[in-house]
Amino acid sequence: MVKQLINDFKKNFKRNSNFTQWPGLIEAYKEWLPISKKTPIITLQEGGTPLIELKSINKIIDKNVKVYAKYDGLNPTGSFKDRGMTMAISKAKEEGCKAVICASTGNTSAAATAYAKKGGMKSFVLIPDGYVAQGKLAQALVYGAEVLAIKGNFDKALKIVQEMSSKFPITLVNSVNPYRLQGQKTAAFEVVDALGEAPDWLCIPMGNAGNITAYWMGFNEYYQHGISKKLPQMMGFQAEGSAPLVLGRTIDNPDTIATAIRIGNPVNKEKANIVKKESNGKFIAISDKDIINTYKLLGEEEGIFCEPASAASVAGLIKLKEEIPKNSTIVCVLTGNGLKDPDCAIQNNEAVFKSGIEPELEIVAKSMGF
Ligand code: F0G
Repeated sequence: MVKQLINDFKKNFKRNSNFTQWPGLIEAYKEWLPISKKTPIITLQEGGTPLIELKSINKIIDKNVKVYAKYDGLNPTGSFKDRGMTMAISKAKEEGCKAVICASTGNTSAAATAYAKKGGMKSFVLIPDGYVAQGKLAQALVYGAEVLAIKGNFDKALKIVQEMSSKFPITLVNSVNPYRLQGQKTAAFEVVDALGEAPDWLCIPMGNAGNITAYWMGFNEYYQHGISKKLPQMMGFQAEGSAPLVLGRTIDNPDTIATAIRIGNPVNKEKANIVKKESNGKFIAISDKDIINTYKLLGEEEGIFCEPASAASVAGLIKLKEEIPKNSTIVCVLTGNGLKDPDCAIQNNEAVFKSGIEPELEIVAKSMGF
């Protein structure tokens, strides 16, 4: 049975199919990436994440559409950042780097540290004090980061690390590092490999706008090589209190429950605006209320626990319901795992939770309504 499945997988999987378990995205897509035989590949076998049909969302939209989630929260450190980090850290290692640095709303710090430590490097992370979800902070600590929590937001932290890396022998691994986007573009390859064609829409949350840029690069490369026959419209979503790309101006004090995308001055803003223009896409702001409602819906109806920032992609799609073309195929990127932010989960759910129940059958049964 398993053998049969592996054989089917090999038959259907078009590129580099000489492996029996997913080898990590550099190995899977090496012809498409700027690596050489000399590059030491630092991998946790990231990528190869599932594309899951969201039947409850198909029903809400009701236009014979097929909506899928690209569930990148299933990467080794629980977010899409692993795609970029396997490349950035492998290239840093190749260049003889001994330490890396990043600013982060949480996920980048977790991924950077996991890969840096695996590659035998130090990892320094600057985070906005008090605005990083507990799960992400726990990861950075367990992987062995040196964490510097600063009294300021992500934008301030990014400025500092950019300067630090220009003055000291330390490699910057935020998405201004070009290898990050190279690694992240493989998510678009995987989407096309799984669907056999590019989707009509790609819906994605935006913070620093690296990921939307990387997806667009990936879709374009496959398109230019004739692997797909079309390009998607790129739909980027931000939280209302933190929507510089939607409003077209820097936000000094960004605010949202989706702390991953609490960014007021995205470093990739010019690139993101080009993506919007070239793909005939849209950038839309979503309220925290809609983000949380969709977050709960994905958990309760689809069995998918993503983080609030990720739910913005599906919430955004629902908001654009009237504009969705009939019979279209849509992919929503779920960028991070819900376990990253347990406080948000515990405060935002409709579950029944009764505590202090005596351990007696009758009492338990009664509490259950029997
Ligand atoms: N979703 C999640 C879960 C994220 O962590 C981020 C960014 C984004 C979406 C937005 O991606 O910046 O490429 O537009 N997190 C960064 C971090 C900023 O530090 O972890 P983007």
